Amino acid sequence: MTKNFKWNKKDLLGLEYLSAEEITHILDTAESFKEVTTRDIKKVPALRGKTAANLFYEPSTRTRGSFEIAEKRLSCDVVNMDMKASSITKGETLIDTGKNLEALKIDIFVIRHSNPGAPNILARNVSASIINAGDGFHEHPTQALLDLFTIREKLGKIKGKNVSIIGDITHSRVARSNIWGLKKLGANVTICAPKIILPKFAKEFGVKVTDKIDVALKDADAINVLRMQFERDIADAFPSKEEYFNQYGISEERLKKAKKNIVVMHPGPINRGIEMSSEVADGKNSVILEQVTNGIAIRMAVLYLVAGVKNKVSS
Ligand code: CP
Repeated sequence: MTKNFKWNKKDLLGLEYLSAEEITHILDTAESFKEVTTRDIKKVPALRGKTAANLFYEPSTRTRGSFEIAEKRLSCDVVNMDMKASSITKGETLIDTGKNLEALKIDIFVIRHSNPGAPNILARNVSASIINAGDGFHEHPTQALLDLFTIREKLGKIKGKNVSIIGDITHSRVARSNIWGLKKLGANVTICAPKIILPKFAKEFGVKVTDKIDVALKDADAINVLRMQFERDIADAFPSKEEYFNQYGISEERLKKAKKNIVVMHPGPINRGIEMSSEVADGKNSVILEQVTNGIAIRMAVLYLVAGVKNKVSS
C-alpha cells in the first residue's frame, strides 16, 4: 500500500513521467473509489466546487463517458465542450482555448487530441490541471492505468506476470502507455505484430519482440489485444482482414494453446472477427467490459489526485 505517499503532480500527461510508486498510488486510490461505485449512492463530495472541462478533439465512447461519470461521482461541475462547434473552427489556437476557458475558472482539463504532445503544451501554458485522454500515437495513460488495475485485480499482482500486447503497436498510444506502466511495475512484456508493422522503437523499451502469435500466447498470464487501425497505412500489409484474423486473430482454437485462466483484454473499440472472434470477446476469459467499468474508478482517482495539488507547477 502507498498510504503515506504524497501526490505532487498537477497533471497526468503519460506513464513515462510517473514512478512505479506514483502508478501504484493511483491504483490504490482507485480501489477506494471502486468501493464507492458499488454503493447505492455512488457519489462523494471530494471535488465539490471544482469545474472540469472535457475537450475531445477526437471521437471517443469509453474514455469520454467514463470521465464524465467520474467527474459527476466526485461532485465536480462538468463542461463538455463540443470542439466541432467551438472557436477552434475560427482558427483559435489550443493555448488560447485553454487560457480563455481558464478565465472561466476551469480547474481541470481532460483533453483528447490527434497531435502527440498537445496535453503537454496545454500543461505548460495554463495553471489548471491537465489530464491526457489520448494524444495521437503518444500516450493514453488512463487506459493503461485501468488495464494495470484490471490485471492486478485478476492476477493478484503485476510484478513477474507475463503480459503480451498483440496487434497494431506502431499506431497505438495504448501500447506505449501499457509498456511504460507494465515495465515500471515489473511485468514481463512481450509485443507481437506482423513484421511489417513491428515498431522500430520496441527493443528500446526492454520488451520481448515477436511476430509469432503462438510465442506471444505461450506462458502469457494476460493478453492485451489492440485494434487494427486499418484506416492507417497498414491496410497494404495484409491482402485482407480475413488474412489478418487467420494469422493473428485470437480465436477459441488459438486460445486453447494458452494458459487455461489467461486474462483476455482489449481497450476497445473491437473489430470483431479481425483482432478476435466474438466467442473470445464475449467468452469466459474476457474482461473487456470489466476494463470499461474499472475506467470509472481509475478516472475518479486521477481527477481527485491532480485536483488536490496545491502549488500548481507543470509536471
Ligand atoms: N479505449 C478507448 O480509448 O476507447 P474510446 O476511444 O471509445 O475512448
